Amino acid sequence: MLNDRNWLITETCFDLARQNHAETIFTIGNGYLGTRGAHEERYPGEERTTFIHGVFDDVPIVFTELVNAPDWLDLNLWLGGEPFRLTEGEILVYQRQLDLRTGRLSRRVEWRSPQGMLWQLAFERFASLANPHLLCQRVTIKALENTNLEARTTLSGETDNLNYKHWDWIGQGFGQNSAWLHLRTRSSGIELGAATRLVVSGGGNLQQSAWDTRNAPTLVVTTQLKSGEIVEIEKITAFYTSRETNDPQGTARRALETVPKRAWKGLWESHARAWQREWERCDVLIEGDDRAHLAVRFSLFQLLAAAPRQDERVSIGAKALSGYGYRGHVFWDTEIFMLPFFTYTRPEIARNLLSYRYHTLEGARKKARENGYKGAQYAWESAATGEEVTPTWVPHPSDRTQLIRIWTGDIQIHISADVCYAIWQYWQATGDDDFMIHRGAEIFLDVARFWASRAEWNAETGCYEFTDVIGPDEYHDHVDNNAYTNALARWQLKTALQVLAWLESHQPQKAAQLRDQLELDENELAHWQEVAEKIYWQEDAQTGLVEQFEGYFQRKQIDLQALEPRTQSIQSLLGIEGASEANILKQPDVVMLAYLLPELFDENKLRANYEYYNARTDHTFGSSLGPAIHAIIACRVGKPEEAYEHFMRAALADLEDVRGNAHDGIHAASAGGIWQAIVFGFGGLKLGENDWNTQPCLPTHWKRLAFRLKYRGQTLEIDLFNSSGKAGEE
Ligand code: BGC
Repeated sequence: MLNDRNWLITETCFDLARQNHAETIFTIGNGYLGTRGAHEERYPGEERTTFIHGVFDDVPIVFTELVNAPDWLDLNLWLGGEPFRLTEGEILVYQRQLDLRTGRLSRRVEWRSPQGMLWQLAFERFASLANPHLLCQRVTIKALENTNLEARTTLSGETDNLNYKHWDWIGQGFGQNSAWLHLRTRSSGIELGAATRLVVSGGGNLQQSAWDTRNAPTLVVTTQLKSGEIVEIEKITAFYTSRETNDPQGTARRALETVPKRAWKGLWESHARAWQREWERCDVLIEGDDRAHLAVRFSLFQLLAAAPRQDERVSIGAKALSGYGYRGHVFWDTEIFMLPFFTYTRPEIARNLLSYRYHTLEGARKKARENGYKGAQYAWESAATGEEVTPTWVPHPSDRTQLIRIWTGDIQIHISADVCYAIWQYWQATGDDDFMIHRGAEIFLDVARFWASRAEWNAETGCYEFTDVIGPDEYHDHVDNNAYTNALARWQLKTALQVLAWLESHQPQKAAQLRDQLELDENELAHWQEVAEKIYWQEDAQTGLVEQFEGYFQRKQIDLQALEPRTQSIQSLLGIEGASEANILKQPDVVMLAYLLPELFDENKLRANYEYYNARTDHTFGSSLGPAIHAIIACRVGKPEEAYEHFMRAALADLEDVRGNAHDGIHAASAGGIWQAIVFGFGGLKLGENDWNTQPCLPTHWKRLAFRLKYRGQTLEIDLFNSSGKAGEE
């Protein structure tokens, strides 16, 4: 399926004003770490950042955050005695490209120095997917007259997270052409060993030296160049942390020693092969729309670049590994939006991500206990331990002397059901009984216990209710009986009983052990059943409309059209209180539910709810999670062009910075939603117990849509063609 088009993200102009957005776009990664696309040489305002999965440390307000690792990119050049900086001299040629097929970032520059000397430079970098501890850089330099060159690289432990420092220095030293550094995070005590090596080929009279500056060991190389001569500088860096080894410093140094002196070619080949294997499993082909095709591949690339392949104790945060937004915290974004892509194309990675929820069960149990409930209540924002790390108060974005109370960590409870939904979907798709037996079932049972203890009996209505919650639509908090939350809770309780029944018949010993461990008796199980049957649910028998929460229909009616053109969200426009009193949604809520539990919505009901809520959603400036889901439902109600509009809003969220916040990192949930929109929206894939089919709904200008996925041991190759506006299958 791999074709040659639509793999390159290209920047043709050096523009410091949009450097932070470009850093996000040019993030590379290998599932162990992610590095923003800062340049090798430094510029003011840059965010030179590398995040390593799982390396969290304490910080005020947001509790914990992924730590900015030492900078492995740093490489400063003095060309003919002048520092190479694109803010000086004249740029004759500039092109930066991320090749999504291989995860290689390259930059080609022709530069006239302030003193008029001409230089040609080519920079390349990749984070090896074959050996994720190795990071590779190469610079090829050509002078157009006889001159000299100096290269300096500093392995700096002075990095910070937007001015907040996390590293303590333990030690440093030098080897042949190499430097190493040993650090420890201040509170969490995670150690990091880094080693880097510089090898120069070409030029004459090569001189090497080292500067033993504390926390910034530096390697310096000088060489003479003849006119037209090419010099190549190869820099390989190794990172290990105490999360993988007891001796991160020694392991990093040894890793470097085993790499041959001219390492680039070998490392590149194994890396490129590893990426090719990834794309063979999950590429998507769109013919007739290069912009959409490139945007889809960009999204998949960013998910793959952040996907933990060797570690089941980490998960992917809302901004993956590409920026400071949400500090590396994990939300429902992972299970509901990103997971399906992995479940259906890279189930091994999905298993790792779900295992993270198993390993953080203790954190979820603690949260339930502290809130006075039983069982496991997953954190709205989760990090290393699974304990709640949502900030309680944050400074107001436009007046930092004011604080805003954030309630999501207290009352956005649907995430516990979302985690189970993803486990169920994974199990259905893969048949991985082992996971269900040893990990999934325990999560299911403890989450069901949470729901049953959280449900409130209302004698007047004769229903179990969930009051004072936040549903997916966060413009409305402290609401009662949010439809999404109630329906997912009901689904979770019923499914937990099903899982237990399955376990009892397939693995009675394990079932008995779990019942014993969790002290589950028949009374409690009967109570779950009763709660599930009597959970509050309201829909209008005539219109089929499901009220998003009690009283939603009475909220102030706002005419969104009358507010256009808009440049800010409804919440910024009306204020937090104003948005809460209005009937505008930040993101799909009932529509989201219709996507996850389609059995609750027949055709008419689906159409009615989609039309109603679609007209009342803040699509462009509300949540980035919404548009891909709206695209799917628009396809299901037979509106491919409207679906396309929603889809492109999601697809361009990062590349074209639709929301103006891509500098904070990529919108990873949107990226996952895009894959779902391709497969379950435009592709119309329906997966049954023993079969599957497609009901495609392609935008008229798409000539072909093809994708591949795994389902119950089979590889499905789906190739859809659009002839005269009607999609057929081949
Ligand atoms: C959205 C949430 C989402 C979070 C992290 C919020 O703005 O409303 O649904 O989980 O961002 O992406």
